[in-house]
Amino acid sequence: MRALAVLALLVGGPGLLVASAHEGHALSDLERAATAPGALSPFDLAALGLLVLAAVLYARGLRRLRRMGASVPRGETWAMVAGLVTMAVAILPPLDGLALLRFHAHMVQHELMMLVGAPLLMAGRPLPVLLHGLGARLRPVAARALQARGTSGAWALLTTPVVAWTLHGLAIWGWHLPVFYDAAVGNEALHALQHACFVGTSVLFWWGMLHGRYGRAGYGAAVFFVFTTAVHTGILGAILTFAGVPLYPAYLAPAARLGIDPLGDQQVAGLLMWVAAGFVFTLLGLGLFAAWLGESARRTRARVTSLARRVPMALIAAGVALTLSACAHDADVRMAEQLTGGDMARGKAALTRYGCDTCHTIPGVLTADATVGPPLSRLAMRTYLAGRLENTPGNLVRWIREPRRVDPQTAMPDTGVTERDGRDIAAYLYTLR
Ligand code: HEC
Repeated sequence: MRALAVLALLVGGPGLLVASAHEGHALSDLERAATAPGALSPFDLAALGLLVLAAVLYARGLRRLRRMGASVPRGETWAMVAGLVTMAVAILPPLDGLALLRFHAHMVQHELMMLVGAPLLMAGRPLPVLLHGLGARLRPVAARALQARGTSGAWALLTTPVVAWTLHGLAIWGWHLPVFYDAAVGNEALHALQHACFVGTSVLFWWGMLHGRYGRAGYGAAVFFVFTTAVHTGILGAILTFAGVPLYPAYLAPAARLGIDPLGDQQVAGLLMWVAAGFVFTLLGLGLFAAWLGESARRTRARVTSLARRVPMALIAAGVALTLSACAHDADVRMAEQLTGGDMARGKAALTRYGCDTCHTIPGVLTADATVGPPLSRLAMRTYLAGRLENTPGNLVRWIREPRRVDPQTAMPDTGVTERDGRDIAAYLYTLR
């Protein structure tokens, strides 16, 4: 599904650019002045700086991960690169300068940010790689800040589909009210704020659509929210197309100086939002829809085979488990810490510090959803560790500290875990039942 969406974006992005390539005449003096590199505002430079920083961190993170023997799916890396390039094209000349002279160039700039750049960046799942790019000292600090209950709670709330959908819609409609739009065209700081709102809400929106978990609704909800966004932004595009008068006075003066018809300019902008953006939305929506069909087919198969056999057992077990689990959790933690002599809370933090989360999915650790190594869920219940060692506290600590001593051929690297950290990590893993 991600491949399909990325393909859609790679077709859609240049499509938007081609659609905007106006009349093919040479640039006028006015346009040449507006698109000179010297015309970049401090805000543009700051945004560019952020993109460069992200690119550098990402490259460093990739290199570190590779050295550790972990890999990032190639599609995700390409999506990230394409996303960064798209954002750079959107904020650099010539587009950035033309955006202040021609309304439809400004529309292309915004659509590139919201509908191509943001979803590509989100499809690239850059966070774990960026964190690695921070290096051994800053990474744990950043990881801890991201995993703090406040941060992950706020992120979960903001990327809930309804919330992200509403914020994104409000940003688009609000900023297209003529008072606000004109103010943004006339003032660099407001212009930067406008772009921050567009990019920020579209990042929330696309993260929610691509990676958010919304229980059973799954991709179905995402399809609904993507299509309804296509519909409401399409309506806004149609309003711009059919308005009989120029709606944004800020573009009257530049149009007069360029000798173009402001109403025609506005109609092209409206069509870009309505038809061209609608096309990209539709492709993305179809990608999600295909993923939805695939997923529900998988779920149905799994449900039919497993439920038929397990319903009665599962009901009894669930009843017993529910009554026991409340009191059992504390006992589990105490038991895990006694067995290992470690501290599970410190162990949880150490998991990100040593980069275990780049290879393993570990319940309770937000950044750990990797699939290089086996998931560490229910580790306390295993008979064997890595299929080789009997699952005892001593063996677990040994494996965590020096897996290559146990088996030189194993793909899991020695990460220099200290004795104490080994015990702490083992304590945390033994709480996973
Ligand atoms: C570069 C990727 C990578 C990193 C980093 C990594 N592991 Fe692993 N881990 C693996 C792989 C691959 C296996 C399977 C090894 C095997 O079977 O030979 C594994 C196996 C394990 C197992 C046994 C799992 C089982 O199902 O029996 C444990 C426990 C484990 N790792 C814990 C850790 C901890 C704790 C860290 C951090 C200190 C860590 N790993 C870091 C790749 C990694």
